[in-house]
Amino acid sequence: MPRKQLIDKVLILFTAGHETSANALSFTLLLLAKHTHIQEKLFKEVDSIDFDNNDHISQLGKLRYAKQCIEESMRLFPPAYFFDRASLGNDTLNGYAYKKNTVWLMNIYELHRHPDYWEDANKFMPERFDPANKKDFSDYYFPFGAGPRMCIGNNFAMFEMIFTVALIIKKYRIQTEAEQVEINPLITLKPKEVLLKFRDRYEIS
Ligand code: HEM
Repeated sequence: MPRKQLIDKVLILFTAGHETSANALSFTLLLLAKHTHIQEKLFKEVDSIDFDNNDHISQLGKLRYAKQCIEESMRLFPPAYFFDRASLGNDTLNGYAYKKNTVWLMNIYELHRHPDYWEDANKFMPERFDPANKKDFSDYYFPFGAGPRMCIGNNFAMFEMIFTVALIIKKYRIQTEAEQVEINPLITLKPKEVLLKFRDRYEIS
């Protein structure tokens, strides 16, 4: 592999893989801080898991609610909140003509909150991703994109985020005074000025 290609690949792995996961984790922790009953339900799940052994796959299988919390957080606040495509040739859609090289932006943020698809669309409800509810969101839930360019790091990202959230919640109770979750939509979607307090669950006061 030529040196330039190698550097480009390392750079894309850092930019695509680092900020997106960091933003998703920030939003998730903020949402858990604002919804203490959900945080305590998650604590019950993680408290029953022994993280001291190296059997990460079996631990992962037990962290079902942690996964749902992250999925729901990325529904409300998808770090990749839009993605773009350029048309390869002239085309028409809904009676409008589009020239070759037209750039299309897919608005994932709006799709993830569309009231036609989501009940109580703006509410943080991790249970909606519980497989027991047998809902298929595959036509309108795209935190990692879709098709041939879908995120190549999606499984790694979920694995990393589930463990990070679980280990934090196991040790800390998270609090915030933020009334609203404010967004900062740049290349990725970030939360604005998040201040969280982490209190050791086992501290003796
Ligand atoms: C929460 C974390 C992440 C989110 C929300 C996310 C989201 C996305 C999305 C939506 C795309 C598709 C963009 C498009 O269709 O135009 C994408 C592509 C990509 N992601 Fe991720 N990503 C995450 C984590 C990661 C991680 C951890 C890595 C690598 C370790 C990674 C590497 C990539 C790469 C290399 C691409 C380009 C794939 C291609 O064009 O074939 N991502 N990501």
